[in-house]
Amino acid sequence: MEDCPRIEWDGSLETGTRIVDVQHKFLIDIINDLADAINQKKVMISIGKIINLLKHYTEWHFGREEDCMERFQCPAYEVNKKAHGWFIETLESFQREFRETGGSEEIARRMYHELTQWLVQHIKKIDTQLEPCIHTD
Ligand SMILES: [Fe+2]
Repeated sequence: MEDCPRIEWDGSLETGTRIVDVQHKFLIDIINDLADAINQKKVMISIGKIINLLKHYTEWHFGREEDCMERFQCPAYEVNKKAHGWFIETLESFQREFRETGGSEEIARRMYHELTQWLVQHIKKIDTQLEPCIHTD
């Protein structure tokens, strides 16, 4: 099977808010660990750790982002919060699928594609809306 492409950071993922960018880079690092595990045929060894780390880190990061959007009265606050909820639910449903089926590379590939697509679009469309709010008051 084809290799999973790692997500490469580039300027199109910049939100204009440095602290958010630093957190996104770490998030992408974790997701790239999943790509590496798939490519090195180590999904079954690594998946538990990757899902746990992803869950804890996203919960923390989404919380920071939501607090910041609320504080600066960013209009994207509600839609961002909803989108974050969707990501956590999707992650949890993959976690359940791994537990219930015993796991497979196929599930890991589906998870990787779904989460990376979401993350890239989410950063570009929603997280970039925070920066203008910080600078309008
Ligand atoms: Fe966000």
